[in-house]
Order: sequence, then C-alpha cells, then structure tokens
Amino acid sequence: MKFFVDTAEIKEISELSEMNLVDGVTTNPSLIAKSGNDIKETIKNICQIVPGPVSAEVTATDINGMIEEGKILHSLAPNVVVKIPLTWEGLEACNKFTELKIPTNVTLCFSAPQALLAAKAGATYVSPFIGRLDDTGINGVDLIGEIRAIYDNYDDLNTMILAASIRNINHVTQVAMIGADVATIPPKILKELVKHPLTDIGLSNFLDDWASTGQKIR
Ligand code: G3P
Repeated sequence: MKFFVDTAEIKEISELSEMNLVDGVTTNPSLIAKSGNDIKETIKNICQIVPGPVSAEVTATDINGMIEEGKILHSLAPNVVVKIPLTWEGLEACNKFTELKIPTNVTLCFSAPQALLAAKAGATYVSPFIGRLDDTGINGVDLIGEIRAIYDNYDDLNTMILAASIRNINHVTQVAMIGADVATIPPKILKELVKHPLTDIGLSNFLDDWASTGQKIR
C-alpha cells in the first residue's frame, strides 16, 4: 500500500519525505486554506519535494470551469493529479481528463455506486472518505471493502482506491488489510503509526539492563 500525506504544509511534507515515507500527497481546498498559502505556489513547491502523485483540487463546480482549472493545475508540474468532486459534472470532467490522459482523483466518495461511476469515468484514483462516514454512524472501512470487491470483479476497472479521511492508526491497519491501493494519512497519524507502549517499556528495560553491565559498544 502506498502512503500519501494529506496536508498542504511544506515543512511536514519535507520532513516525512526525507524518511522516504511519502509516495504522494493529497491536498484539498480546506487544507490549502489552513496553510494560508497560495495554491499554485504550494502545489509547485510540493511537486519539487515529492516526485510522486500530488493531488490538487478544482474549485469550479461546472464542467467547463473544472476542465479549465484542472488544466491550469496540471500545467504546474507533470506529477499533478487533478482532484474532482464526485458530482455528475465532476464525472463529465473526469471523462474529459481521461481522454486528455491527465490523471484524476475523484474525491468525496461516500458510496460503492459512486465509486463504480468514478471507475467507469476512467478515474485514476477514487477517494472514499472513511472518517466522515464514521462520523455519521456508518462504518467507513466497510465501504473500502465494498469498493475493493467490486473493482476486483472486473478487469476493466483499473481505478486505484485511495482511502481518505483517515482519523486513526486503526483505519490504516484496516484499509491495508482490505487492500486499498493508497492511504492518504495526516502527518500526525503517520507519526503515530510507530508508537506502541510495549515498545517504550521494552526499550526502557533493555537500557536499564544494559547500563547495569557497565559495557559500551562505542
Ligand atoms: O483529503 C481529504 C480528506 O482526507 C479529508 O479528511 O479528516 O477532513 O475528513 P477529513
């Protein structure tokens, strides 16, 4: 499973990228707003740090506007993936980008039929939002399972499942077990993946025992 980071914060992306933990990046209008920076500059900067796919989202909601904005975003760097909302107009735009061979990430997916439509439109990625489904009392991870099962039934559905709206480390484990192609993870949660209390206790015990020997390795 690929790890994308779900952020528009350059500092966080650089830090994780040095650890080789970043296969790609996803942004959205809310994350750009939170960063306080210009979208084009931000996307260009991210693309200089990360050679993998970097999703940049259109904000127009009409088909012509989405196509125009998507072309502008894709012109910023060859690794820009145009992120489009899962609306009827978004699917039309996705079809157009498929024809133009511009990669797409169809976002705000909350159901299996929506994911099926995104794949039929030739989306490179579909982004089901797990956490936001959980917020409504529906199990978001189940949706990843449904989409995986559907896509695996048909050789001509090649859209990659990009599990989004990941809120905890359990989400990461579960989507990896199901076989999501990508998990886009907020930097804070990515760093939490390493944590386990027994690791800390075990290390502390080892160091105490080592100190009692008086030995040194270097
Ligand atoms: O990239 C969009 C998605 O990951 C949003 O997550 O936590 O705002 O639901 P969240």
